Amino acid sequence: MAEVKKIGVVGLGAMGAGIAQLAVEGGFECVGREVDAARGDAARERIGRFLTRKVEKGQLEQQARDDAMARLTTTTELKDLADCDLVIEAAFEDLAVKQQLFEELEAAVRDDTIIATNTSALSVTQIASVLEKPARAVGMHFFNPAPLMPLVEIVRAERTSDDAFETAYATGERMGKTPIRCSDTPGFVVNRVLIPLLNDCVRVLDEAGVTPEDLDAGMKHGAGWPMGPCALLDLVGLDVHVHASEALYEKLREPRMAPPPRMVRMLQAGKLGRKSGEGFYTY
Ligand code: 3HC
Repeated sequence: MAEVKKIGVVGLGAMGAGIAQLAVEGGFECVGREVDAARGDAARERIGRFLTRKVEKGQLEQQARDDAMARLTTTTELKDLADCDLVIEAAFEDLAVKQQLFEELEAAVRDDTIIATNTSALSVTQIASVLEKPARAVGMHFFNPAPLMPLVEIVRAERTSDDAFETAYATGERMGKTPIRCSDTPGFVVNRVLIPLLNDCVRVLDEAGVTPEDLDAGMKHGAGWPMGPCALLDLVGLDVHVHASEALYEKLREPRMAPPPRMVRMLQAGKLGRKSGEGFYTY
């Protein structure tokens, strides 16, 4: 199995920045790529802030924080990922965007670099189909917020090699996560269950005439959820959830997979959750 020392992360939004944070906290060198320097700087600042907070809370030594930050660089150029052993793509959730990135990445990195995608609902096999060496592609699906959620799904696509699969698994462990092995089926494991469940929760809002606050209290105190479904949808983002929901519906044709009309209306009105300042709640 290849030894991973340097990890590239493409896309430093909420998920990508979280993954880059895990990489440097896990002792890896990490280079994060964003489309412009301002976004790269913002991600670096966000990671620095969270690590400082961990120091303040006694969860991390100051020196370990500084060392982790020193292992992080950002760039706007894919060619700066050339010497990475593993690259994790965490760009916009769109098949064409991810396929183009995979093509560009393969041209930029070494022959033996593993290329992973953090896609939540697209097919890893389909994304990897543009590669000359699709055996190097694997899914590494982190959960939001990535630094706090213990799980990473390691997704075996149709042509994934054993080496790429096991290296991704071992790297997930070294990043402090609990990896699980799964196949490239729609929604993999967790989203296959969670997406229709969240859709049901939103349908219940209208069916039972319950408020988001009461529904959230119901699921927290009656079902042991760490946060209520409406708060969770606001955290994940209505745009992200609806996109994943539509992708699963398209593949599985189960009515529960389709986003409920209330959710679609919220999306059309720009009520995306935390990121837009308003969703089920205001922020
Ligand atoms: N790094 C370090 N610390 C971070 C952080 C980060 N990136 N982001 C937040 N924190 C900190 C917060 O600042 C906070 O610290 P502070 O308030 O002391 O400064 C601390 O983490 C924890 O905050 P909370 O008190 O809110 O922590 P909780 O114990 O309530 O747990 C939670 C928060 C882990 C998010 C918990 O509520 C939870 O498990 N919620 C469910 C989340 C979930 O289900 N996610 C999956 C979504 S589905 C998905 O991602 C799939 C995708 O494909 C769409």
